[in-house]
Amino acid sequence: MKRLLIKGGRVLDTQTKTDGVLDILVENGIIVKIEENIPSENTEVIDARNLWVLPGLVDMHAHLREPGFEYKETIESGTKAAAAGGFTTIACMPNTNPVIDNAFLVEYIFSKIQKEGFVKVKPIGAVSKDLKGEVLAEIGDMIQAGAVAFSDDGHPISDTSLMKKAMEYASMWDKVIISHCEEPTLSRGGFMNEGKKSTILGMQAIPEIAEDIMVARDLILAQYTGCKVHIAHVSTKGSVEMIRQAKAKGVRVTCEVTPHHFSLTQEVEDGWNAQTKVNPPLRTKEDVEAILKGLQDGTIDAIATDHAPHHRDEKILEYALAPSGISGLETALPLAMTNLVKNNILTPLQLVEKMSFHPAKILDLDVGTLQIGKCADITIINPDKKEIVDKNEFYSKGKNTPFHGMELYGKVFYTIVEGKIVKNIETIQRGE
Ligand code: DOR
Repeated sequence: MKRLLIKGGRVLDTQTKTDGVLDILVENGIIVKIEENIPSENTEVIDARNLWVLPGLVDMHAHLREPGFEYKETIESGTKAAAAGGFTTIACMPNTNPVIDNAFLVEYIFSKIQKEGFVKVKPIGAVSKDLKGEVLAEIGDMIQAGAVAFSDDGHPISDTSLMKKAMEYASMWDKVIISHCEEPTLSRGGFMNEGKKSTILGMQAIPEIAEDIMVARDLILAQYTGCKVHIAHVSTKGSVEMIRQAKAKGVRVTCEVTPHHFSLTQEVEDGWNAQTKVNPPLRTKEDVEAILKGLQDGTIDAIATDHAPHHRDEKILEYALAPSGISGLETALPLAMTNLVKNNILTPLQLVEKMSFHPAKILDLDVGTLQIGKCADITIINPDKKEIVDKNEFYSKGKNTPFHGMELYGKVFYTIVEGKIVKNIETIQRGE
């Protein structure tokens, strides 16, 4: 029998409201005991004194680029990056080539994960065939094959009738639609937030209302259809407020924010360095303040990376031509620790809620909690260790980050998937 004892760490679990110094005993990948002073005979031991022991982090929004864009990322490199970042489960978006819009592609992703994955991966299927926003994809077939949610992320669904149909269809299985909210006739051709700064820099811009209008539409559709809708990468104060009101009315809506949208404002944009180019664009101080409030009061359910790796040669193009996106799996936890927990925006238990418990719940996955009988997906971090972000040390192929050189708190010491240590302080390995 394979046994692992995690000794003396601060165990934090949102679902059971645990926050205390405890030991955790794992046998054959399952948590069998959580209590003080478990004896350590015949057991591999991790000394977790002064460390935090969390349910494995869950990222509900990552782009793994496979199949089709292996020069940006692969399942192997992306899941290594996930393990390095403390994630034990990630969900991958379907904007690949071919698009993940049928059961065969979902099965293909599962077979690759089994061979090459370092952490668990759950495929998200496309809402529309080939992400064209014209015809519904094979949602039912993809559910049978194991798709956990549906999204045309990266592409807004501007055909309201198609979105309504998608919601009606997904609600038959009680599956969630993840919506990339962008009104394309307002955002087309733009690449930074519309305002004084975009005018000064002479940049084509995307107004906040491009997001707000689509959020409003999708909240109305969610209320009408009864479908579970999750708003991806919320970036405006208007969206936060509308989602708050919709929740109060009982609409089945959840939402996420990315670490870059709670950490940065448009003030970091200089008009030439495309490391800050992202969709939706970075917004204003007022938007970030609304996001922080939304995180605190529970309007914003989850923190998701929107890990969007791109090749160096693409990102060094001039601003207008470079693709949008930030490689986020390896900086998400340090950004949340530094900007949210150390700044007293979130408590440690709220951090666990937003980075593990809620994303698991939204996708209906049986992970995101530390409890006896549950699988031992566990992340162990040193909350006080500061480190300078070095993109050259990323396991992701995507070195595109605006956070290179920043000093951040919170270092992942161990990532444990079903009782197997896939990352320890020095190395990453596949848990065979
Ligand atoms: O910045 C982004 N990049 N936002 C998205 O919605 C898609 C993503 C990508 O796929 O590169």
